[in-house]
Amino acid sequence: ETVSNHFFSTDDVIKQLYKPRSKFDHKGKFGNTLLVGGSKGMMGAIQLATKAALRSGTGKTTALVPSCGYEIMQATLPEAMCIADPSRNHIVASTLLKNFTAIGIGPGLGQHDQTRKAVRSIIEDFEKPIVLDADALNLLSENEEWWNFIPENSILTPHVGEFERLTGVHYVQSFDRVEAARKMAIHRHIIIVLKGANTAICLPNGEVHFNSTGNPGLAKGGSGDALLGIITGLLSQKYTPKDAALLGVYLHGKAADIAVQDRGYESLITTDVIDCLGKAFISLL
Ligand code: APR
Ligand code: MG
Repeated sequence: ETVSNHFFSTDDVIKQLYKPRSKFDHKGKFGNTLLVGGSKGMMGAIQLATKAALRSGTGKTTALVPSCGYEIMQATLPEAMCIADPSRNHIVASTLLKNFTAIGIGPGLGQHDQTRKAVRSIIEDFEKPIVLDADALNLLSENEEWWNFIPENSILTPHVGEFERLTGVHYVQSFDRVEAARKMAIHRHIIIVLKGANTAICLPNGEVHFNSTGNPGLAKGGSGDALLGIITGLLSQKYTPKDAALLGVYLHGKAADIAVQDRGYESLITTDVIDCLGKAFISLL
């Protein structure tokens, strides 16, 4: 007897996870989100992540960026707050974390030695599940001991290259890669969002959930940054880590499917995807 641990995130499955708003809701209910990232020449990545969090329903949103990005963030994202790191070109320090309900780290972070220390300290200090992407994952790949303090049910969002750096293995068959991600999720008690055309969400209980939305218009720089913002924003609103990952990946792809109808695959940019998040949420009502 075999019981399948593979699932498919259809529209109907995702609609069951979605929590609609009610009349007397207020911003205090929807969390206080922190996004950490950016470095000289890569401020776009943290801008996109922060904008995507703002469009995903979080009550309050703050970005922690190197000081060269402070005016950029304040001038382009009026709804977000901004904390400037003491250093100009890359993040070197943590900040007061206790008031945040969810933290996402990685977009445009770089891998400077001082950044590594700051990221380590954020992960170590924050006791709730955290969302790690991009250079936060690359830093983790080189600092195996970080696994000792990554909170349970944290969400890691590697693309294939980042996943292979985490494991140190090159997988020829995508089936082998998904199975390795499934085993890592079980072993480390975390959620792995293995990104690609058929994003696989691997849970600590051994379940694998394949996403049903998204298209090749997403195959360009910036797409992953938006996904980090969406998932962190949902986690902040008290979606469980599992639901934040499933719903976030679905909404990201759905927004791209809606946006591509006007933009076409080639012309679609991440800003268009973020702009269509509203229609993606409305499709769940
Ligand atoms: N079909 C559906 N979805 C796709 C497709 C496709 N053909 N191609 C990409 N996507 C989705 C992925 O599932 C994922 O959600 O787009 C997103 C791409 O994310 P990343 O691979 O992280 O790409 P990107 O945002 O460009 O990353 C920018 O950060 O992670 C680093 O090394 C990366 O330097 C790069 C930077
Ligand atoms: Mg990426």
